[in-house]
Amino acid sequence: SSIEGINFNLTEEHLAVQEAAREFAQTELLPTAIERDTHSKFPHEQVKKMGELGFFGMMVSPEYGGGGMDTISYVLAMEEISKVDASASVVMSVNNSLVCWGLESFGTEEQKQKYLTRLASGEIIGSFCLSEPEAGSDATSQRTTAIDKGDHYLLNGTKNWITNGGTSSVSLVIAQTNVELKHKGINCLIVEKGWDGFEVGKKEDKMGIRSSDTHSLMFTDVKVPKENRIGEDGFGFKFAMTTLNGGRIGIAAQALGIAAGAYELALKYSKERKAFGKTISEHQAIQFKLAEMATKIEAARLLVYKAARLKDEKKDFIEAAAMAKLFASEVAMWATTEAVQIHGGYGYVKEYHVERLMRDAKITQIYEGTSEIQKLVIAREILK
Ligand code: CAA
Ligand code: FAD
Repeated sequence: SSIEGINFNLTEEHLAVQEAAREFAQTELLPTAIERDTHSKFPHEQVKKMGELGFFGMMVSPEYGGGGMDTISYVLAMEEISKVDASASVVMSVNNSLVCWGLESFGTEEQKQKYLTRLASGEIIGSFCLSEPEAGSDATSQRTTAIDKGDHYLLNGTKNWITNGGTSSVSLVIAQTNVELKHKGINCLIVEKGWDGFEVGKKEDKMGIRSSDTHSLMFTDVKVPKENRIGEDGFGFKFAMTTLNGGRIGIAAQALGIAAGAYELALKYSKERKAFGKTISEHQAIQFKLAEMATKIEAARLLVYKAARLKDEKKDFIEAAAMAKLFASEVAMWATTEAVQIHGGYGYVKEYHVERLMRDAKITQIYEGTSEIQKLVIAREILK
């Protein structure tokens, strides 16, 4: 349909990436998606394959073992994976746009050789640790401390809601070094799992994206060598915000995929299900739902592609990324709810997938900055 065919000057390579992601999602993710969701099982095998196929370091330079692709390729892949399984796509999103992108953009050559190459190949998985029990939207209120001890930092505190928390081997941890300097006294440290004093806390029992693992992480007197700081002393908050700008494009693409996946299922079902002597797609009430879904999803797609294009062209994309994330996540929540409605009672049970997509959609309005925070970011940009 036209929804797939918009011309954004997609190249042969873009279409090949899109096709590979679609194929992978259908053959490797779909068959186990319901079972993994029901039992909160992490997609270990699937994640391994995604790494082998190059989905974990898509935008990383080949010099460090990545795919050297652009952001458009990345959002195309994110959309296809998310149509089927948003749990798998959040593992991918965090590794690509937060951990790998942050390390490649701001890490030292030694940090890249030591960590980025293994992260980009999917040999190991990373996590990004900004949120705390008492600091979510209000991200500058960091309670975790990284005290300067000369050749190392002493890290203490608790990070909350960490995606890949149980499976990641490397974590980028944001912490306060100098309280007087407020957000300019914050650092980002590369922390390895297994270091003394690093403990993985309980796994969260979530509404959606249940096959992704979300944990709290606790640090007690963890010694982090100075060479594991990213950027200059005090760069940590700027690092987190700059990295999240790109991350928000990934989550916007995830939301777009969830919405499009639910729409495709609803469209198909509407042509099969009969009521009152005709298919439900012949009832105008259902046609109008489908028309509105198609329109809003297309609008979300344009915003996502626009943000990705601006990033690829090295233009300012803060506002575009926030708009894409805000709009696509609202569309995802709305469209998945409509998809359940189109399925009637069958939409309310697991077998038809749309109830899972509806539960998964909700997180896109919360993480990487809630919808309210996106509005705050957009307002600050337009009022500058
Ligand atoms: N890009 C670049 N820099 C930014 C920025 C952005 N989007 N937003 C803020 N900054 C910079 C500001 O320029 C400022 O730096 P200077 O002092 O050098 O100018 C500094 O950050 C502090 O900014 P503010 O004074 O605006 O700080 P604030 O406290 O009023 O508001 C905020 C900041 C925008 C609300 C920010 O705290 C925020 O984005 N909160 C949401 C946090 C978030 O998105 N968390 C996601 C966690 S990761 C995750 O969720 C992963 C996952 O699920 C998969
Ligand atoms: P709060 O900040 O307490 O917000 C509560 C409500 O108040 C929200 O509706 C919010 O929008 C609103 N609000 C707050 N401040 C304002 C304001 N100034 N104006 C208007 N409204 C406001 N974090 C990480 O660092 N790494 C991860 O990998 C990660 N993964 C996550 C995975 C999951 C499944 C979940 C649930 C969360 C994850 N997070 C992660 C944390 C996520 O980014 C935060 O939950 C989110 O930023 C919101 O913070 P909070 O939960 O503390 O809510």
